[in-house]
Amino acid sequence: MKKLFVKTYGCQMNAYDSAKMADLLAPLGYAQADAPEGADMVILNTCHIRERAAEKVYSELGRLKQMKAAKARDGGKMLLAVAGCVAQAEGEEIVARAPQVDMVVGPQSYHRLPEMIARAARAGGHALETDFPALEKFDSLQPPQASGVSAFLTVQEGCDKFCTFCVVPYTRGSEHSRSPETILTEARQLADKGARELVLLGQNVNAYDGGGWSLAKLCEAIAQIDQIERIRYTTSHPRDMGDDLIAAHADNPKLMPYLHLPVQSGSDTVLEAMNRQHTGDDYRRLVERIRKSRPDIAMTSDFIVGFPGESDTDFDATMQLVRDIGYATAFSFKYSKRPGTPASTMRKQVAEDVKAARLDALQKLLLSQQYAFDDSQIGKIMPVLFEKVAREEGQIMGRTPYLQPVHVKTDAALIGQVASVKIEKRTANSLHGVLA
Ligand code: SAH
Ligand code: SF4
Ligand code: F3S
Repeated sequence: MKKLFVKTYGCQMNAYDSAKMADLLAPLGYAQADAPEGADMVILNTCHIRERAAEKVYSELGRLKQMKAAKARDGGKMLLAVAGCVAQAEGEEIVARAPQVDMVVGPQSYHRLPEMIARAARAGGHALETDFPALEKFDSLQPPQASGVSAFLTVQEGCDKFCTFCVVPYTRGSEHSRSPETILTEARQLADKGARELVLLGQNVNAYDGGGWSLAKLCEAIAQIDQIERIRYTTSHPRDMGDDLIAAHADNPKLMPYLHLPVQSGSDTVLEAMNRQHTGDDYRRLVERIRKSRPDIAMTSDFIVGFPGESDTDFDATMQLVRDIGYATAFSFKYSKRPGTPASTMRKQVAEDVKAARLDALQKLLLSQQYAFDDSQIGKIMPVLFEKVAREEGQIMGRTPYLQPVHVKTDAALIGQVASVKIEKRTANSLHGVLA
């Protein structure tokens, strides 16, 4: 067996793609290893979303250069591939900056890895594949070799929204949906390998349109698979939240009461400059409608502070929106200039210290809301889907319907099952409880 090491950066879709690349290489005799030392092939599956994410790749490539040289001294060969969104955005530049890289493969062309490997073995030199052959990729993928209790399943890819800060439309291409048939086949395969929860992925997952099927309809069909107990989806855009999807949160008992609905900012001026095409009040009204359908739904979001031109008043509007909505948890970032995006050339860039102060204030507010939400579960009995053994001996880890991690001292045989847990306390990152 040859050793394959895949390192994943960025979003859940990259995690899904990494698993798919490993599935593709398995028939070529590659087995996954958990460290790069001595590997026959290393794939860095990269993220371009913020500057820091992209820069990490080059420092990792520096380290791998040494390992590759060590392997060559021992008479072996380490193939080095850069995949993902940095590969798509900076293909040529990667090869120029890091000549130790053997292949660069974009998110829509990684199904060509086997032939690229064959080529590299024959000829040496660099191979570059960054086309967008639309959905061809999904036709060439292998069935999953294994699955965790909770599994990702990409149903939609790409983005046509062109928010002015974001690289995703350039790295993932335009919006396209997989057919319901291929998704359902993969869902059944994952269920047969042990998946009990499916997390449907898409850059704009709620814009899913598979030959007339909406995301709500797809969730309904997936709910018919007996072994699948829970369905989640991410990431949604406020503009694509259809009435039938809102209704599904009341009608489909397998659809979890949890919705990641990024708003980015609470200021109408900033939202407009971002090209989000909705206002703060549109978002408030939307959340109200969602909560009417599913009153206990846990809302989460992404925020950007320090977008070009963001004033103190704009930032206050974001804080006010957070107070109005009340989030179970959220991600927040300092605006990062991305090459080629409209916002990167806007004048009035916000000073670094102002960004840092705003991020700090926002994160304090979000964390207090998270703790309040988690504390509100203490004393309750919750259905927990157990996923894996915990780091602490004798404990296993699972999640509530609201995606909160829960640690319980009990038998590992419960992994893969839903059991009732009485929540007793919260620590910084988890709830703790006993079987009820
Ligand atoms: N499709 C999703 C988000 C994808 S990117 C959506 O429409 O919301 C994930 C998150 O990264 C975004 O929600 C945004 O908050 C953040 N992000 C994207 N570009 C960024 C940038 N240039 N600087 C800082 N954060 C950014
Ligand atoms: Fe990026 Fe906006 Fe598309 Fe989300 S909707 S991926 S933030 S361009
Ligand atoms: Fe990053 Fe690409 Fe995902 S830029 S967030 S890996 S879509």
